[in-house]
Amino acid sequence: MAQVDASLTIDASEQVKALLLRLHNSSLAQEEELNKPDEKLSTLKALKAKGDAGDATALADYQRQFDDLMRDKMIALEQDKALFVYHLCRALSATRIVEAGTSFGLSTIYLALAVGQNASKLDPEQGKAAKVIATENEASKAILARQHWKEAGVEVEPWIELREGDLRQTLASNLPMEIDFVLFDIWTPMVVPTLRLLEPNLKKGAVLVADNVTSSASGYDDFHDYIKTRRNAYRSLVLPYSGGLEFTIYDP
Ligand SMILES: C[S@@+](CC[C@H](N)C(=O)[O-])C[C@H]1O[C@@H](n2cnc3c(N)ncnc32)[C@H](O)[C@@H]1O
Repeated sequence: MAQVDASLTIDASEQVKALLLRLHNSSLAQEEELNKPDEKLSTLKALKAKGDAGDATALADYQRQFDDLMRDKMIALEQDKALFVYHLCRALSATRIVEAGTSFGLSTIYLALAVGQNASKLDPEQGKAAKVIATENEASKAILARQHWKEAGVEVEPWIELREGDLRQTLASNLPMEIDFVLFDIWTPMVVPTLRLLEPNLKKGAVLVADNVTSSASGYDDFHDYIKTRRNAYRSLVLPYSGGLEFTIYDP
């Protein structure tokens, strides 16, 4: 099994670093198991192909079976991407972050560390609004995410507001006035609906990072169409991380 590197280049206590390494390793182990060829995976792929070809029943079956399979899976952002995101948020002095797709809360820990550290440089009144808005619609994952943040402690937990439920509803109101940074690490059909909700509140110069844009290229077609039609507002490049990590600047 692939192991993650123990030398995390982040400002965090040894306790938080140990938690991050433990969670990265369990996510890698789960994914290795998940990617072993088996009947379930072949059935899913076949249903997806039929669904993409227009068979609505196959698409509904695929969605149900996919949700069942993923219910206990972390599918966490890989460590190299998470470190990049952390350092980027530090460099941007981001204090208003939205995470689309939280799962067991691993990437959220990196975002919350950055937000807390950036907020510590603000005056206390401004710092009060600093937070990561995390989003998760699987109740069992939300419970585990909260446990992990509690275990991470004061460097992390106070900076997170978890919105449980479908983010198309939970992000429909009460957004920060100026969002600095968005992480899209979610099933691809959710990306454009989320962006449409967030866009009115994106700060000029906000950065959006989207995971697996190359490995899930067809899933991102509508996102790419959307930003292409608004070329005056979005500039974007794909960074050569595994699966492709897209870096987009909102600059209308
Ligand atoms: C790739 S995982 C997120 C991994 C997480 N960012 C990490 O690195 O630990 C995507 C998550 O998005 C959640 N999700 C999918 N559709 C959603 C929706 N409509 N609303 C909220 N969460 C959703 C899934 O349940 C899944 O846990």
